[in-house]
Amino acid sequence: MSSKADLIVGLQWGDEGKGKIVDHMAQTHDYVCRFAGGHNAGHTIVIGDKKYALHLIPSGVLNASAKNIVGNGVVLSPVDFIKEMEQFDNLEGRLFLSDKAHVLLPYHAQIDQARERMKGDKAIGTTGKGIGPAYGDKIARIGHRLGELLNPEKLTAKIVAYFAMNKPVFDAMGVEAPDEAALLAELQGYKEALGSFICDTTQMMWEIMDEDKKILLEGAQGTMLDIDHGTYPYVTSSTTVSAGACSGLGINPKDIGKVTGIAKAYCTRVGNGPFPSEDFGEEGDTLRKNGHEFGTTTGRPRRCGWFDAVAMRHAVRVNGVDQVALMKLDVLDGFDEVKVCVAYEVDGKEINYVPYDLEDAMPIYQSFPGWEKTEGVRVFDDLPDTAKSYIEALEEMIGTKMGIISTSPEREDTIIR
Ligand code: GDP
Ligand code: IMO
Ligand code: MG
Repeated sequence: MSSKADLIVGLQWGDEGKGKIVDHMAQTHDYVCRFAGGHNAGHTIVIGDKKYALHLIPSGVLNASAKNIVGNGVVLSPVDFIKEMEQFDNLEGRLFLSDKAHVLLPYHAQIDQARERMKGDKAIGTTGKGIGPAYGDKIARIGHRLGELLNPEKLTAKIVAYFAMNKPVFDAMGVEAPDEAALLAELQGYKEALGSFICDTTQMMWEIMDEDKKILLEGAQGTMLDIDHGTYPYVTSSTTVSAGACSGLGINPKDIGKVTGIAKAYCTRVGNGPFPSEDFGEEGDTLRKNGHEFGTTTGRPRRCGWFDAVAMRHAVRVNGVDQVALMKLDVLDGFDEVKVCVAYEVDGKEINYVPYDLEDAMPIYQSFPGWEKTEGVRVFDDLPDTAKSYIEALEEMIGTKMGIISTSPEREDTIIR
C-alpha cells in the first residue's frame, strides 16, 4: 500500500503561519518535505521560550523524529543553508537535499538587487535574495543543480563561461564576475558541507510512500504570490500552490492526501503590489502592532488589512483545500468590530472573483461585532460567541471548514475541531 502525503499551503500573501502548523503536524508525521521557494521564506516557530526562524530547512527539523527533504522545486543558497544548519545538531540521516534542486549563488542576489534598482518605483519589493534570477536561470536552462556541487572544478568552469558569455549584461547591471580561484574554493567548501546530504529525493519520495510513511509537504510563500495565480508581476518566481508540490518533489496528484490551507484571520503583504483590503489607517497600525507584523526574513513592516474572502475563495479552489487553518485570531482581540472584504468593485461593477488585474479592485466590506479575548484559547467552545460567529461566517463565505484555529504563536495554543 502506498501512503498519501498531507499538504500545507499558504492561502494569502505569505507569512500566514505555515511554520507553526507544519511544526504542529510534524509531531505526527515521519517526513516533512519542502517543495518550492528559497530563503525568501521565513517560517517562525515558537516552542516554550525559544523562537526559531527557518528559511530553507523544513519546519519538521524541530521534531527529532521527523526526517526532512528539500525537493527539486526549491532554489537553494548553499551559504545560507549552511548557516541555517548550524542551529541544529545531528542532521546527518534526517536531512536530504534533492540533487535536482537549483543552486542559488551570491551573484543571483546581486542581479536581483540590480534589477530592482533599475525598476525604480515599479520595483517588486523582492527580498533581494536572488530568487527571481535563480528560477530565471533554471527556466532558461542555464542554471546549475545541486548535483553539480559534487564536482566543483567542472561547475567553476561552467560559471566562468556563463559570466564570459553574459559580460555586457552583467557590466550594465554592475554585477561583478566571480574570481575563478575564489569561486572554486567557495564551491569546494559547499561540497564538503553539503555533499553527504545531496541525493535522489524523487526515488526517496516514492520509496517512503511505498513504505506507507506519514508524509507532510510544506509550502512556502502564498497563493497570491504564485507565479501564475498571484498578482503578477508582484509575485515570487515559483509555483507556490498545491500543484507545485507535485512538480517540486516528483510525486503525482494522486499521491496528495489532505490539503490544509493556512490563512490569517486578517491579511498582510510584504513588498509591493495590489492588496485590496489593505487598511492604511489606525486599524491597520493596530493589526501590525498586535500581530508583530514585521518580516522574518527582511525585518520589513508588513502591510496590514482585513480578511479578503474573495481572494480566499480563489485560493481554496486553486489549491483544492480540504480544511483551512485560521491563524492569529488573537490579533483581532479588542477590536469593536472586524471587517471582511466580501466582494470587489471594479469599474463601478460588483464582482465576486479575482480579476486579471487586482490593482483597480476596491473592497466591499461587511462588518462583524468584535470580542474581548481569544488569546491562548485551546477549545472551540471556550471562544467568545462573537468570535465563533465570525469564524462560522468565514466558513460560509469560502465554503470550507476551519478545522484548525490558532490563538497564539505557541505550539499548543491551537484549537483542533
Ligand atoms: P510563515 O511564513 O507562514 O511560516 O509565517 P511567519 O513565521 O513568517 O509569520 C507568522 C508569525 O505569526 C510568526 O511570528 C508566528 O510565530 C506568529 N504566529 C503564528 N500563529 C500565531 C497565532 O495564532 N497568534 C499570534 N499572535 N501569532 C502567531
Ligand atoms: P513565507 O514562506 C511573504 C514576497 C516578497 C516580494 C515578492 C517577491 O515566509 O510565507 P522574492 O524575493 O520572492 O522574489 O520576492 O514575494 N515574498 C514573501 N512575502 N512571505 C514569504 O515567504 C515571501 N517570500 C517572498 O516580499 O513581495
Ligand atoms: Mg514567513
